[in-house]
Amino acid sequence: TATYKICLLPGDGIGPEIIAEGVKVLDAVGAKFDTAFEYTEALLGGIAIDETGEALPEETLRAANASDAVLLAAVGGPKWDTTDPEKPRPEQGLLGIRKELGLYANLRPVRIFKALADASTLKSEIIDGVDLLIVRELTGGLYFGARERFYDEEGCGVDGAAGQRAYDTLEYREYEIERIVHHAFETARKRRSRVHSIDKANVLETSRLWREVAHRVAAEYPDVEIADMLVDNAAMQLINNPAQFDVVVTENMFGDILSDEASMLTGSLGMLASASLGDGVALYEPSHGSAPDIAGKGIANPLAQILSVEMMLRYSFNMQDAADAVAAAVEAVLDEGWRTGDIAGAETPADKIVGTVAMGDLVVSKL
Ligand code: NAD
Ligand code: IPM
Ligand code: MN
Repeated sequence: TATYKICLLPGDGIGPEIIAEGVKVLDAVGAKFDTAFEYTEALLGGIAIDETGEALPEETLRAANASDAVLLAAVGGPKWDTTDPEKPRPEQGLLGIRKELGLYANLRPVRIFKALADASTLKSEIIDGVDLLIVRELTGGLYFGARERFYDEEGCGVDGAAGQRAYDTLEYREYEIERIVHHAFETARKRRSRVHSIDKANVLETSRLWREVAHRVAAEYPDVEIADMLVDNAAMQLINNPAQFDVVVTENMFGDILSDEASMLTGSLGMLASASLGDGVALYEPSHGSAPDIAGKGIANPLAQILSVEMMLRYSFNMQDAADAVAAAVEAVLDEGWRTGDIAGAETPADKIVGTVAMGDLVVSKL
């Protein structure tokens, strides 16, 4: 029996509710595929701030590094929202663990389940044939540059009046661009051999470096097509003609924004899984946040978390059959018409709308 150690980071808001469903699915997979999953739970985000004063306690980092894979739910919430730069924020914990584990490649697959074609806000003929993968650079760019806020007594307001001034720097090094673009091309080779590299090269210097490096890397993959697209156009094209995309590679913040947008092709942000990969232990996390508006109500969609478990099985444990089984189980549940509120439509019968726990149970019942 293979044994894997998994570090669980439930975090805040709906986090603890959805991660329980991910664990339920892992346990069912373990039983079926003769694998033992051992869990250690650690603190990250707001709950970590409350209990230790820090968003990413040293002990959490140790637990993550001692595991074979990390499963994260989500962090953050109004309780810890502050504009005071001196106060810790839950999101710093997430950025910290991504950086510390070197998780530079964030894969966000946008896959349409047939049964959910009507759940999208877009017409079904637009999302027909959509199967794209966003490869988001995760440890660089605007998120990790220098940042500062100045409290100036003079000079920053209108007409030299008192005011404040803040900056965040957007910086990329060649090697950071190179490795993420390589990742995109390697992945595209196993898919439909097309890469869209998204930038803002008409304005940003970092984007012009990005474009230069992307094309240099592209030359090593003559079998894969590369197309450049400016990010504002890409935002429009994702809604206009999403089926044109196969692999989309882009810098950190563009990838953050475009992936939330792309999630609506699937019907809900609650469907969008992700894998954050580097050279060491990998982390798996839904693309959505802690959804404070529905936390504690038992209605959150656990499928992004469960599909993140699928990615863990695939990328960290090379358990392809188990991963396929999870994907098939989710598909079967949706085919039977079961929905959480976020993916239910006007025509969904009330008795087919289920909560977080019931959705997890349904997936397990199909395994
Ligand atoms: P959010 O993703 O938490 O929620 C956006 C909307 O989508 C909300 O209406 C929410 O109810 C809905 N939603 C999200 N996940 C859902 C699910 N699984 N099932 C059903 N509905 C779902 O984004 P937000 O409201 O902008 O941010 C809330 C907090 O989460 C903030 O503190 C933010 O920083 C944090 N956040 C954390 C992560 C993360 O931990 N990876 C990601 C994004 C945002
Ligand atoms: C995400 C989130 C995070 C990000 C935040 C919470 C730091 O929005 O994972 O998409 O911007 O990376
Ligand atoms: Mn985001």
